[in-house]
Amino acid sequence: MTRTGLPLRLAGVSRRYGTFPALTPTDLDVVAGEFLTLLGPSGSGKTTLLNLIAGYVEPTTGSIEIGTRDVTHLPARQRNIGMVFQNYALFPHMTVGENIGYGLAVRGVSKDECKRRVSEILSLMQLEEFVDRPIQKMSGGQQQRVALARALVIEPDVLLMDEPLSALDKQLRRTVQLELRRLHQRLGRTTIYVTHDQEEALVLSDRIAVMDQGRIQQLGSVEAIYDRPANAFVAGFIGESNLLAAKVTAVAEGKATADVEPFGRTIVASMGPGVEAGKPARLLVRPEHLLFNKTGDGIPAEIVETVYLGELSQYGLALESGQIVTARQITDRSLQTGTKVTLSWKPGHALVVLKS
Ligand SMILES: Nc1ncnc2c1ncn2[C@@H]1O[C@H](COP(=O)(O)OP(=O)(O)OP(=O)(O)O)[C@@H](O)[C@H]1O
Ligand SMILES: [Mg+2]
Repeated sequence: MTRTGLPLRLAGVSRRYGTFPALTPTDLDVVAGEFLTLLGPSGSGKTTLLNLIAGYVEPTTGSIEIGTRDVTHLPARQRNIGMVFQNYALFPHMTVGENIGYGLAVRGVSKDECKRRVSEILSLMQLEEFVDRPIQKMSGGQQQRVALARALVIEPDVLLMDEPLSALDKQLRRTVQLELRRLHQRLGRTTIYVTHDQEEALVLSDRIAVMDQGRIQQLGSVEAIYDRPANAFVAGFIGESNLLAAKVTAVAEGKATADVEPFGRTIVASMGPGVEAGKPARLLVRPEHLLFNKTGDGIPAEIVETVYLGELSQYGLALESGQIVTARQITDRSLQTGTKVTLSWKPGHALVVLKS
């Protein structure tokens, strides 16, 4: 394994099916060696984006570059991309070694070179002992690793993975996630990884692109997305959140003044991108940032649920409007269902964000 990954650039890439925009025009720059995750709900366009990069789907508009090469109209096989699919897509009648070597053979790599590279990747992935075993006699987790070995053996400039762990049980998933991360650190392949599992995205990624409705809603580090979500969809999708209907009446110097209907009052809070007076918005307060007290000023509420989580407890708090918000704080046994409290937060811990 000598070469590492190349940068990838998408400019205005889109895909329509009839009139349906599976992917709206998208710009995306992936740094060489980066691990980027596409995270989003079912139907948000993750696989479409991956297939466009791989060359399995033709773009309706836009261009794709890998390194300095424009690959927009190159067939998949000429893009030097490794792909791992959700269902592994291994050849059932072949052995482990044959599955891994197949991609090299069709690329015209000599028999000896093929053998050398297959055995190198097998040893890297600790699969040496299985080289002659029929693929169907491997467990799900082992097959997944063979699929990964098959993608890596061609020394791809870009590695694409579409929900590669979704068939594994939770515990095995966690193990393979850590293995993937170590392997990535070692090989430095530019990687684009698709999942709808938020935790998995957090474990693996340098950056995350949150997708919804055929659009990258936000691209950034885990921290940036959590602390400064671009809109209510992103806020709700990453981490837990209280999102309250808000009418923005004025904005000035990074702060928004908003009538927060469920609170029955006007709030001044920090604001996210694109917030303007009159545009539909939400007030975001994370459960760990929502403070409450039995005494003092604040928004009146009543404890309607307590969930003991150990050192912390989670509280369901009913506002006077009837809406329930969630708060998480150090367990206090005197806080029981029915207790009247008042809500508050520290400056900067409430954010007005666009509704979508
Ligand atoms: N060949 C196709 N013909 C018509 N519509 C398609 C085609 N492929 C995808 N779509 C539509 O494009 C949208 C995005 O699909 P895509 O497979 O990219 O979603 P996804 O984010 O990968 O979802 P999932 O998490 O369920 O795999 C969906 O609404 C899907 O129905
Ligand atoms: Mg998909």
